[in-house]
Amino acid sequence: MDSIRKKRNLLKADFISLKDFVTDQAKGLKMPQIEPKDGDTFIDLPKAAKNLVKKDDILQCLQERRSRRDLDKGDLKLEELAYMLYLTQGVQRLFKRSEDYQVALRTVPSAGARHPLNTYIIVNNVAGLERGIYRYQSIDHKLALMKDLKLDTQKLTTAVNGQEFIAEANVVFIWSAVPYRTEWRYGSESAKLILLDAGHVCQNLYIAAESLGLGTCGIAAYRQKEIDNILGLDGENEMVVYLAPVGVI
Ligand SMILES: Cc1cc2nc3c(=O)[nH]c(=O)nc-3n(C[C@H](O)[C@H](O)[C@H](O)COP(=O)(O)O)c2cc1C
Repeated sequence: MDSIRKKRNLLKADFISLKDFVTDQAKGLKMPQIEPKDGDTFIDLPKAAKNLVKKDDILQCLQERRSRRDLDKGDLKLEELAYMLYLTQGVQRLFKRSEDYQVALRTVPSAGARHPLNTYIIVNNVAGLERGIYRYQSIDHKLALMKDLKLDTQKLTTAVNGQEFIAEANVVFIWSAVPYRTEWRYGSESAKLILLDAGHVCQNLYIAAESLGLGTCGIAAYRQKEIDNILGLDGENEMVVYLAPVGVI
């Protein structure tokens, strides 16, 4: 019971104590970068295009939305993937507050516009893309191929607690958090904010997939170490917080 109660604390806000906490932003420390830039193979993505949309009525999208696990009955188009990446993390506007302080405004909200998430995708079956693991470069709207990461279906299935439909999907979105992006401004209040941010992102994916006639399902039942290992994350400065397979239905 103690462990349950302890974890409940994450649900609560404590901005009063934050008043006495000098954040790294207040100390004048440099803002962490908006997203990683490393990689040597970058793939241009098509712009999110309206003509892909099969259902353009938000009421219908939400009325018909479901978590869908019966996926992968055909090819997913690169244009559809690009559309979903843009709707979940796409950068609408980038502006400089000062030399060291840039803000990205995106298709999703984020506490303090800190946007602590990175999007990785595991590609199984997307027309025009090699199978493999990629990271979305949101500022440039490109994919970075993670050459050093090997795609192993069995390992992925183990990492998601044996939920087999995930590794079989056309593509799996995996969101990692870089906590310091939010902690730089909100210190100890950050964990809750980061998880709230992740919820918004995945809801956008539900709506985007539904509008394209595709299916998705939010996934939180996974094994932390195993999934972090698949993406080569250290689990301390960056860790997986949520994922969602997407497929043709
Ligand atoms: C935070 C979160 C975590 C979830 N984790 C899983 C999961 O690990 N496996 C799964 O099959 N469904 C998962 N789901 C999907 C829920 O089971 C689903 O939303 C719920 O059964 C209601 O169905 P609906 O989304 O079709 O309304 C998750 C949903 C959310 C929002």
